[in-house]
Amino acid sequence: MAAMSVQEMSINGDQPPPEYIVKESSFGCIESSPPLADQIPIIDISLFSPSSLEYSEQAENHELQKLRTALSSAGCFQAIGHGISDSFLDKVREAAKHFFALPVEEKQKYSRALDGGSEGYGNDVIVSEKQVLDWSYRLTLRVFPQDQRRLHLWPQNPNDFGEMLHEYATKIKLMMGVVFKAMAKSLDLEEDSFAKQLFGDQSLLQARFNFYPPCSRSDLVLGVKPHTDRSGMTVLLQDRDVEGLQVLIDGKWVRVPIVPHALVLNLGDQMQIMSNGIYKSPMHRVVTNTEKMRLSVALFNEPDPETEIGPVEHLIDDETRPRLYKSVKNYGRINYECYQRGEIALETVKI
Ligand code: OGA
Ligand code: NI
Repeated sequence: MAAMSVQEMSINGDQPPPEYIVKESSFGCIESSPPLADQIPIIDISLFSPSSLEYSEQAENHELQKLRTALSSAGCFQAIGHGISDSFLDKVREAAKHFFALPVEEKQKYSRALDGGSEGYGNDVIVSEKQVLDWSYRLTLRVFPQDQRRLHLWPQNPNDFGEMLHEYATKIKLMMGVVFKAMAKSLDLEEDSFAKQLFGDQSLLQARFNFYPPCSRSDLVLGVKPHTDRSGMTVLLQDRDVEGLQVLIDGKWVRVPIVPHALVLNLGDQMQIMSNGIYKSPMHRVVTNTEKMRLSVALFNEPDPETEIGPVEHLIDDETRPRLYKSVKNYGRINYECYQRGEIALETVKI
């Protein structure tokens, strides 16, 4: 354990201790300001719903084409037209901000350590001595299935936190359903091709609130190390003002800009498996800021661990596109075990 907490070091303006310092790796060094991504388009997802005002087949096809290009290269896009009001998104950010601003003892009531699982409040889970630690705090909570909520880990302060999270997650789940269908359409598949594996009644929706305190040496530490999400799909609400997310595209880090009202949608490993590698689970990381704190809220969808997932039959062709991945259950566990051994989970499920 580091002797001092990230929060204390951040407030004191201390130099980060060695266990936080990122060494040059195969993913390159930390640049606070690489180019802005021009491969991450803004996609109007209201055009995927025939009931919307601007809907036309032509407009939908145009948007589907953009979706296909984005997901097969960057693996992410900025979603607008999601129907969630700006004031509600601000409310989600405010609730998160309020929670992280509570005194340490108060936050520790929801500590992951008290519960022994992966949910709750804490910082980077230490799995190896060589691990470089993330300059951040997280609060992780499972929201769906509803009967799996560990409510003793849900903040009571602010007092509408639970209500807010339920409402936000419900809206995002609807949005994910729309995008799963559009993704299937964009590949000329039956509408429910992805949803039926990834999005059943027992599928999981996990929320992660990320808090990145400022760091006097943001050139030496990362808020989150390079990783791909293990999810099927991730929807990220970024900070309103402070950038920090970077995505690796064609071997280069690019910044994900802040687009007002937009939600960043990226795919996770399980979607890369199901799309037989056509759609990408992008490598991404978060840099810190020397002066400003940053907040983000990520919602991760994944199938129920008992459901087997694998490449959709229609995306396999022995000649032009052979099957790339095995069928797997409980990818979450595979991913965790690989992380502990320092291996890349997706590589281990390749054929
Ligand atoms: C994550 C993640 C990005 C961010 O929580 O998996 O990549 O901007 N977060 O906080
Ligand atoms: Ni991530």
